[in-house]
Amino acid sequence: MIVEIHPPHTSVAHRALHELRPHLTDVEAFVRQVDDVQRAAGYRLLGAYVDGTRDAGDSAGPPALAVAGFRVTTDLAWGRHVYVDDLSTLPEARGRGLAGALLDAVHAIAADEGIDQVHLDSGVQPERQAAHRLYFAKGYRISAYHFERPID
Ligand SMILES: CC(C)(COP(=O)(O)OP(=O)(O)OC[C@H]1O[C@@H](n2cnc3c(N)ncnc32)[C@H](O)[C@@H]1OP(=O)(O)O)[C@@H](O)C(=O)NCCC(=O)NCCS
Repeated sequence: MIVEIHPPHTSVAHRALHELRPHLTDVEAFVRQVDDVQRAAGYRLLGAYVDGTRDAGDSAGPPALAVAGFRVTTDLAWGRHVYVDDLSTLPEARGRGLAGALLDAVHAIAADEGIDQVHLDSGVQPERQAAHRLYFAKGYRISAYHFERPID
């Protein structure tokens, strides 16, 4: 089951996202950054649950087993597109199709909004190889190099 995670339940995304972003150790700081800063810039969260582990009511419920963070954005290079910032599954929940289902849900949201392209960056370290297999399986191709440098 895929659900959108809205405030005030952002904390249910923390455990899964912490696997991808280990510097985000503090749950309250994570919630503040998402709810007060990133949501204002269009950031949205989807959570994946095994059916029956989350009720449809208003309670936050258990942590999401997998999470996707994304936004609809526009720039001169690509025009209007969806950008996937974060995709992460708890180690014990991997290999069950949850991240794949989250990507499918992001693609469906894009299609509903008349958007015809989805972009993301992914590191090249060995820990990302499972992600790269998933992206290729979901129809992504490598389209750019990503450059960065520190500012002295
Ligand atoms: C990359 C990541 C998000 C994938 O999450 P996941 O929920 O395990 O993804 P899926 O289950 O959809 O797919 C993973 C594998 O399980 C397989 N699978 C999917 N459903 C399955 C099922 N029902 N039964 C058996 N295997 C299944 C997929 O084919 C895929 O196989 P592969 O590893 O041989 O390519 C996860 O490994 C992760 O969180 N990694 C650390 C963070 C990270 O790297 N994030 C990406 C940043 S760019």
